[in-house]
Amino acid sequence: MKLLHDKIGIVTGAARGLGKHLAMRLAEEGCHLVICDIDEDEVKKTGKEVEQATKRKVVSLKVDVSKETDAGNMVDIAVKEFSGIDLLISNAALSFSKSIFEFDLQSWKKIIDVNLFGYFLCVREVAMIMKKNKSGSIVQINSRTGKRGSSKNSAYAASKGGGIVLTQSLSAELAEFNIRVNCVCPGPMFESDLWQKVLFDNYAKRFGITKEEVEKKYTEEIPLKRGCKYEDVANMVVFLLSDQASYMTGQAINVTGGGTVW
Ligand SMILES: NC(=O)c1ccc[n+]([C@@H]2O[C@H](COP(=O)([O-])OP(=O)(O)OC[C@H]3O[C@@H](n4cnc5c(N)ncnc54)[C@H](O)[C@@H]3O)[C@@H](O)[C@H]2O)c1
Repeated sequence: MKLLHDKIGIVTGAARGLGKHLAMRLAEEGCHLVICDIDEDEVKKTGKEVEQATKRKVVSLKVDVSKETDAGNMVDIAVKEFSGIDLLISNAALSFSKSIFEFDLQSWKKIIDVNLFGYFLCVREVAMIMKKNKSGSIVQINSRTGKRGSSKNSAYAASKGGGIVLTQSLSAELAEFNIRVNCVCPGPMFESDLWQKVLFDNYAKRFGITKEEVEKKYTEEIPLKRGCKYEDVANMVVFLLSDQASYMTGQAINVTGGGTVW
């Protein structure tokens, strides 16, 4: 029997990157899915790919997780299509890195809105359904940055740090309904667009070195000497969502190859 056989799951930010990988993995583990993203065309493509590869039912939606009406609509559609929700992965996030003196206030607030408030909203909406069934498991994709901060990245770090305390708070509040809430804190995922399209170039310029040297520098800091792969994160997420983790809630689990974060 697959670990998440016939469970109903929601994945946010599933158009690309880690979210897309998690959608495919959940379906491979037996889930039917509602996947959403602000990028409607791409999330619909993801939905078709996942459905074709796994023969699981996938509903793809345009959703801005920071909007109350969108989050509510996502849950209404999940309930209409599947008559319940068992699992949520809150993965959608934004990141712009700027110094404290360069950050414009709108962008700073936007990151908190999507990464922190959006996480809260999605949990609130799904928990209203999960509490009726006295069962549910929620995982937020956090970051090692949420535990140790990051220079010239204050909004993202604050949003992720807030996400850890929010996870702890909501886990305590929702335990009486048998809803578990955990988060996963990955290290750098070099295969992601963030690294491939932004960070390798930014750090190469900042340190005056090549992109290859940037990857080597960051890899050297990791005891297991490699970046975090989507699959590393997916393995932990599936475990936390499954009944194998039925005694775990309120945790922020590092998937960092031994990289030092508390
Ligand atoms: N890339 C890394 O190295 C890394 C490391 C640690 C943690 N993370 C975390 O992993 C998660 C996925 O990262 P990724 O690299 O795949 O990111 P990504 O930017 O490639 O994907 C994020 C997705 O979220 C969507 N999104 C953005 N704003 C949204 C909104 N308001 N509503 C709905 N969807 C929205 C985007 O369209 C995109 O498809 C994020 O939570 C990120 O913070 C990433």
